[in-house]
Amino acid sequence: MTINVEEISALDRASVLHPFTQLKDFATGKAGDPTIVETGKGIRIKDAMGREYIDGFAGLYCVNIGYGRNEVAEAISRQAFRLAYYHSYAAHTTDELATLSARLVRMAPGRMSKVFYGMSGSDANETQAKLVWYYNNLRGLPKKKKIISRQRGYHGCSVVSGSMTGMSFYHDHMDLPLPGILHTGTPHHYWGAEPGETERDFSARRAAELNALIEREGPDTVGAFIGEPVLGTGGITPPPEGYWAAIQAVLKKHDVLLIADEVITGFGRTGSMFGSHHYAIEPDLITVAKGLTSAYFPLSGAIVGEKVFKVIEEAADRIGSFSHGYTYSGHPIGAAAANAVIEGKWEATSTSVSRRPSPSCRSSARCAVWVFWAPSSSSRTVRRKPVSMRA
Ligand SMILES: Cc1ncc(COP(=O)(O)O)c(C=O)c1O
Repeated sequence: MTINVEEISALDRASVLHPFTQLKDFATGKAGDPTIVETGKGIRIKDAMGREYIDGFAGLYCVNIGYGRNEVAEAISRQAFRLAYYHSYAAHTTDELATLSARLVRMAPGRMSKVFYGMSGSDANETQAKLVWYYNNLRGLPKKKKIISRQRGYHGCSVVSGSMTGMSFYHDHMDLPLPGILHTGTPHHYWGAEPGETERDFSARRAAELNALIEREGPDTVGAFIGEPVLGTGGITPPPEGYWAAIQAVLKKHDVLLIADEVITGFGRTGSMFGSHHYAIEPDLITVAKGLTSAYFPLSGAIVGEKVFKVIEEAADRIGSFSHGYTYSGHPIGAAAANAVIEGKWEATSTSVSRRPSPSCRSSARCAVWVFWAPSSSSRTVRRKPVSMRA
């Protein structure tokens, strides 16, 4: 197909509201023409002018298996012809959905029980917040609702997930963050350490700050802590030595749930299946998206641990059905895409990633493997100053 570049550029400029774009400069043409991406194969994309690029960022770090994988496209097509849609309300399911869910529960770290599906990392984190509130209401702890995330953490752009995100330009002029979503210090040793402070000491200081925050707010008001195993959008920063062990001890002490946001660290990004495997994290709830389908179809999941699910299950006789769901929860085409990715990448090939933390990598900031990010976050050639995230 030949694309009429001028016509498509004009249509786009006139009618698309682009995320993270200076809208006036784009509308007036000052920012140049849109890049019309036309094809992709492996690690490369081609635009409508015929220019080829190495897509080092894999889209938005989501096309984990690369572009143009026939087996995934064929699985999507097969499912679309067979049954393009059915919902998962009131115990309806499909073979693809049930198979995928069993796989995810098996692959995930810790003692997981069920998967609730959405379409994006943002909506999955909205679901996580509702699960935390639901869980504590059902336990008779109606005040235990606050959620703590980290400065520079990224958890999405919707109302609750955008509030969890710890960068002010995601909040400015949008009336975020919501009350009840708090932020604690970022786990970035390079930017945040005192002179001479070791990674371990820095981690202990961050954990002490978290402890102080929970005690100040009142442990009976704090329901959950959410974190990316490796800080992503806020700096692609592996945690300093001892960070996750120290944080988890504080959360356990105060009966605060741990949500591992594995939207970018899931599915092999760190060299382990999940970032939680890599850093010996034992989450109560896990958020997945992106690599789940390698972005061949929008699909996300809130994976619910046994501890949380048991409370919900036991309350069902008393409160009735679980009143949360989307039209597209468990979309069969998304499930088929995810199964094809998992079969192709993790089950049918010799590619292997560990489900357990690597002893040498449990806590060291130097061990994470990031296929999309070449420079080491602790490179001493970089000026010791946070990079501005403002556009
Ligand atoms: C860790 C993390 N959580 C959540 C999200 C939000 O996902 P989405 O853009 O699919 O809503 C992202 C997106 O980059 C992310 O990196």
